[in-house]
Amino acid sequence: MAELILGQVLSFPGDPFRDGAQAARLDEAVLVEAGMIRAVGAAAALRAAYPQARVTDHGSALISAGFIDAHAHYPQTAIIASWGKRLIDWLNSYTFPEEMRFADPEYARALAARHLDLTLACGTTSVASYCTIHPASVEAYMTEAQARGQRVWAGKTCMDRNAPEGLRDTAQSAYDDSKALLAKWHGVDRLGYVITPRFSPTSSPDQLAALGALWTEHPDCLMQTHLSEQHDEIAWVRQLFPKARDYLDSYEAFGLLGPRGIYGHAIHLTPREKDRLRAVDASLIHCPTSNTFIGSGLFDMAGLQAAGHRIGLATDTGGGSSFSMLRTMAAAYEVAQLRGAALHPAQLWWLATVGSARALHAGHQIGNIAPGMEADLVAIDLASTPAIAQATARAGDIWQAIFPTIMLGDDRAVRAVWVAGQRRG
Ligand code: GUN
Ligand code: ZN
Repeated sequence: MAELILGQVLSFPGDPFRDGAQAARLDEAVLVEAGMIRAVGAAAALRAAYPQARVTDHGSALISAGFIDAHAHYPQTAIIASWGKRLIDWLNSYTFPEEMRFADPEYARALAARHLDLTLACGTTSVASYCTIHPASVEAYMTEAQARGQRVWAGKTCMDRNAPEGLRDTAQSAYDDSKALLAKWHGVDRLGYVITPRFSPTSSPDQLAALGALWTEHPDCLMQTHLSEQHDEIAWVRQLFPKARDYLDSYEAFGLLGPRGIYGHAIHLTPREKDRLRAVDASLIHCPTSNTFIGSGLFDMAGLQAAGHRIGLATDTGGGSSFSMLRTMAAAYEVAQLRGAALHPAQLWWLATVGSARALHAGHQIGNIAPGMEADLVAIDLASTPAIAQATARAGDIWQAIFPTIMLGDDRAVRAVWVAGQRRG
């Protein structure tokens, strides 16, 4: 049955990095049918046009496209907020021991369900997640996402060196397992397989070449990895790949640079790396709570946007310190402030929806509200706590009304979630 959802319906006909706040639009109602958005417009007009639709009135709540987390590690759900380390010792102390536990398919299934439930409660309807080296960890996430009707991307995280015994594959098994998982899951329902070398320090040149070959065979797949997150990591890559011109070249040389490449962090980039990433129209994923939590550095949003890069926003949990894309927007704002360039609330909201969708090459399906898009939606209460309510009460326009929720909001602001038109929270 069709559902007519009433509220302050926020959509982005334009790009706020180009067109400012004019890029956004507010309507009164959205009509959802058979998992899709059919119409957007004035409440009275849509009530008249769809008299049979069930009406759900969310009052002054903001109705937005569901948030899209463009880079997460679901296996790190349980180690979020682990104290006191930086990237390499954080991986060795917390991440690798936890990822070892995913050898048990039941544990993987439980954590996949937990991650999807926690993120849905935050209004996140799509995720691009790393898994572990275990094929069962991919099976678990795909199965749980499929059961919830979600559009997610996931892939087996490949590592054949500089990782502990029990958490290493080989060049051949990484290729074979990835290929089999891709054949089983890619394009099934709303699921996408992502070819996933963890990062060049944990893959041998042979493994990178094997995954580059797999990507050449399946160019419609996304390929995700990490790039230039911390200075120590970059120095390590220089040692491990003495012939590479820079960190990006350790991927590029093995066929792992392309338009469907998704590069997490991308903080400390050289001019050549920026030029190459821009030339191939690769995606950069900003993970601000992770970058402050692990102490990585300040992503150059203004510079990279001005140069025309394709940029998404992500939690990077459990390196990131929150499952919420609202908290992630707040951190993106603070990181941009430290670089001397304030992000407008329209730009922050766009990054968490349209920007991430475009970065994952799904901007025609999700991340915005328009007829023909998939009906992944959230209703956000703009006065969800006393602190937010008293700030919002002074607002003179919609962006002043939204900004306190961006800076102070969390899962308590999420009043309803729809996945493909179905209520999931
Ligand atoms: N670089 C390689 N692996 C990881 C990871 O799991 N998290 C983060 N933040 N960076 C990484
Ligand atoms: Zn990551």
